[in-house]
Amino acid sequence: MSPTGCPGGAFPPYGPGMNETALTVHQTARPHGFPTAEHFTFVESALPGPAAGSALVENLYWSVDPYHREMMDDVPGGFALDAPLEGRTIGRVIASRTPRLTEGEIVFHRQGWRTHTVVTPEEIRQLPRFDKVPLTAYLSTLGGTGLTAYVGLTRIARLQEGEDLFVSAAAGGVGTATGRFARLLGAGRLVGSAGSAAKAAHLTREVGYDAVFDYHDGPAADLLGKAAPEGIDVFVDNVGGAQLAAAVGALREFGRIVRVGTISQYNTPDAPPPRFNYADIVEKSLRMEGFLVSNYRDMQEELYEFAVPHLQSGRLAPDETVVDGFEHIVDAFLGMLRGENTGKIIVRDRTQARGPVRTTPPCGPGCPQ
Ligand SMILES: NC(=O)c1ccc[n+]([C@@H]2O[C@H](COP(=O)([O-])OP(=O)(O)OC[C@H]3O[C@@H](n4cnc5c(N)ncnc54)[C@H](OP(=O)(O)O)[C@@H]3O)[C@@H](O)[C@H]2O)c1
Repeated sequence: MSPTGCPGGAFPPYGPGMNETALTVHQTARPHGFPTAEHFTFVESALPGPAAGSALVENLYWSVDPYHREMMDDVPGGFALDAPLEGRTIGRVIASRTPRLTEGEIVFHRQGWRTHTVVTPEEIRQLPRFDKVPLTAYLSTLGGTGLTAYVGLTRIARLQEGEDLFVSAAAGGVGTATGRFARLLGAGRLVGSAGSAAKAAHLTREVGYDAVFDYHDGPAADLLGKAAPEGIDVFVDNVGGAQLAAAVGALREFGRIVRVGTISQYNTPDAPPPRFNYADIVEKSLRMEGFLVSNYRDMQEELYEFAVPHLQSGRLAPDETVVDGFEHIVDAFLGMLRGENTGKIIVRDRTQARGPVRTTPPCGPGCPQ
């Protein structure tokens, strides 16, 4: 393998008919604070050949996720430097040396951040195909993102009809799925927080939130107090920090805090932990519970049963920001950390673009060195 010479956000043009070589993203250094394109590189290699019992997959859709930022640090189970990264991906089998994988078959696997990979049947999941459900939904509403929202509401919060919710990072993948699922499950007032007025407008107009505040606009406790003056029963927390502290104050008796993620601290690990009144936990009989979606894979079928009919009827829509071109995968990841996505961020191979392909100039003659 040889580095392309371009740092992470930039790389030589790649498109249909130019895929005789494979491209793989490596992390090259550990970030302190916010990562940049300089922490990644694109590595070019010959197309791998499948050994007996395996198949070559051409990847079509890639998920980039906040947990990848956590894996960039020197932590157990984190990304190794100068090695292929992991990530949820959908691809097509293009050469097979096992009867269990057929050429042309669409598969889900975790060898992301690369254009091609060799997989064994044990390393993939065959995706059920549902009428009128796009492939991207298997990374958003029906994927780990939707499953996180579904588990959070049904198993951790044990949401009851009519209960009022507050959701932080409400405009992201988990946040939009949580809002839409909560509506379908009969939630009462739905309050969210997000990073811009445009996101707040999308959430109230399209997703079903009743009130959304921009968390940049003042102290979280004041903003939440105005948006939910009667209090809340459930807080789905994607962010942590001051919003978590504000929610403890706003929760009613027997309220639940569903700890999903702590994105406010992934790039600022030295930020002070949130300060709240611990007595509230006792006096209001609150319950705070975190979870990892990887421990709830057995609920995948239940998610399909719940969500697919609504996707087919149009009552449920996936919220997605789709970035065209594998060469933008690092930009897409960094943009998601900065809040440039609405809904689940997904990178799509140019061959899958339905409309005109967006041609953001990547790394041409002006490639930064
Ligand atoms: N427990 C699990 O198994 C599990 C599974 C999946 C995801 N998660 C967690 O769930 C959360 C959301 O994940 P996702 O995949 O749906 O990502 P996402 O919400 O689609 O994208 C991340 C969003 O976080 C917001 N953000 C970034 N920095 C922030 C800050 N300092 N304060 C507040 N918001 C900030 C940005 O939106 P704004 O414009 O609104 O700032 C950005 O769009 C993350 O914490 C993730 O780690 C946990």
